[in-house]
Amino acid sequence: MKKIGFIGIGKLGLDCAEVMAEKHEVRGYDIYSRTSDSVKICDIDELVNESEWIFIAVPTPHADGYDGSIPSSHMEPRDFGHDAVIDAINKVNTHARDSKKVVLISTVLPGTTRKHFVPLLDPKHQFLYNPYLIAMGSVKWDMVNPEMIMIGTEDGDWNGVAGELRDLYDTVMQNDPRYEIGTWDECEAIKIFYNTFISAKIGLVNMVQDFAMRIGNINVDVVTTALARSTMRIMGPKYMTAGMGDAGACHPRDNIALRWLAKEYNIGYDLFDTVMHAREIQARNLAQFLIGHARQHALGIVIHGKAYKPDVPYCIGSYSTLVGHYVKEAGFEVRYLDPLADDPTDVIAELSHPAIILWAHDRKITYEYTGDQLETQPYCAIPQGSIIVDPWRKLGDMTGLTVVHYGNTRAK
Ligand SMILES: NC(=O)c1ccc[n+]([C@@H]2O[C@H](COP(=O)([O-])OP(=O)(O)OC[C@H]3O[C@@H](n4cnc5c(N)ncnc54)[C@H](O)[C@@H]3O)[C@@H](O)[C@H]2O)c1
Repeated sequence: MKKIGFIGIGKLGLDCAEVMAEKHEVRGYDIYSRTSDSVKICDIDELVNESEWIFIAVPTPHADGYDGSIPSSHMEPRDFGHDAVIDAINKVNTHARDSKKVVLISTVLPGTTRKHFVPLLDPKHQFLYNPYLIAMGSVKWDMVNPEMIMIGTEDGDWNGVAGELRDLYDTVMQNDPRYEIGTWDECEAIKIFYNTFISAKIGLVNMVQDFAMRIGNINVDVVTTALARSTMRIMGPKYMTAGMGDAGACHPRDNIALRWLAKEYNIGYDLFDTVMHAREIQARNLAQFLIGHARQHALGIVIHGKAYKPDVPYCIGSYSTLVGHYVKEAGFEVRYLDPLADDPTDVIAELSHPAIILWAHDRKITYEYTGDQLETQPYCAIPQGSIIVDPWRKLGDMTGLTVVHYGNTRAK
């Protein structure tokens, strides 16, 4: 039996504390008066000093008018409030007479913990970020049947205290949960992007509903059910590896045509514009990353793969040429390596000098769903001293070459 304290026993914290109290000795502290049959409500000094584990479940509120119950999309974006978390950390520092295992549950944006909270905590304590995927109305069930348990540590590795937290959860869980270990920042990101993936999904299906209402002869359920049954590409892990952008003969032009349809039927918003705009800025960001390396090392820029995907000649709708467009727009030259490309513009067959090489094609990722597992092989000999920028983060070390994994900013 462990000695556990919860600072902040509101809608989330109290139910979670009571679940823990079925197996452990649990205390709760709140700035407002609370009652519980199983959690001992006490003052902060007792809570801190009688607990080995201290869970912080205080609010990280949005500003007034930002809860989404009235129009807010036009308002200036704002971060969550951090005052209650800072107050809880200060109280642990002030009262603790020995080292504590401090676990922050409250939802915060990626980067917050490292920037705003950890520097405040007395270094004698150990700190984990451990957000919950819990919904109102089913807090206790969700607590012991989570889809996953995220445990954030400073470097993203299992360390002693992270393992101890897993052991602690194993004493109360009912569903043998999946554990995801990451940096503090990665767990902040998993939690908040989990929620926003849901928002995006609902936004998309309700958009189909709007089209059904305007166009006629469409039952939204027929459309969304067919999409929901599409487990090959839509409902599953496919397209969950960040890398090059959406491309090809169909997708970009479909989105562009749907922009027209949204206008034609006066839908009132244009998600396709947002998607296409994001795709372009993502390509420009990647181009700027290549340019940064090109400047730093005085090397030219080469894109390995011009067709919109490996093994085909089609350059129509290619994301490689979109990235190349932004490289050129910034005043740099770009060359492509692709023996199959049906558009020979700027395509070269060999490399005579080292270069900054964007590894645009990854045939394993593109064709894995067909059972084909072969990696993309270099389209020509790669000169020593080249820097390969791999947006898929799959290439390992290569003798005489530097491989940069675009999208991984973890400390080495
Ligand atoms: N409610 C949910 O379903 C849910 C789910 C996942 C994550 N979260 C996150 O958990 C956190 C808490 O959410 P909640 O819904 O329980 O909020 P809440 O407002 O219901 O509860 C927070 C509790 O903390 C107390 N408190 C405020 N400041 C304090 C302080 N300085 N010291 C001690 N206690 C203090 C409040 O009195 C309140 O009882 C938030 O960050 C929220 O985003 C909530």
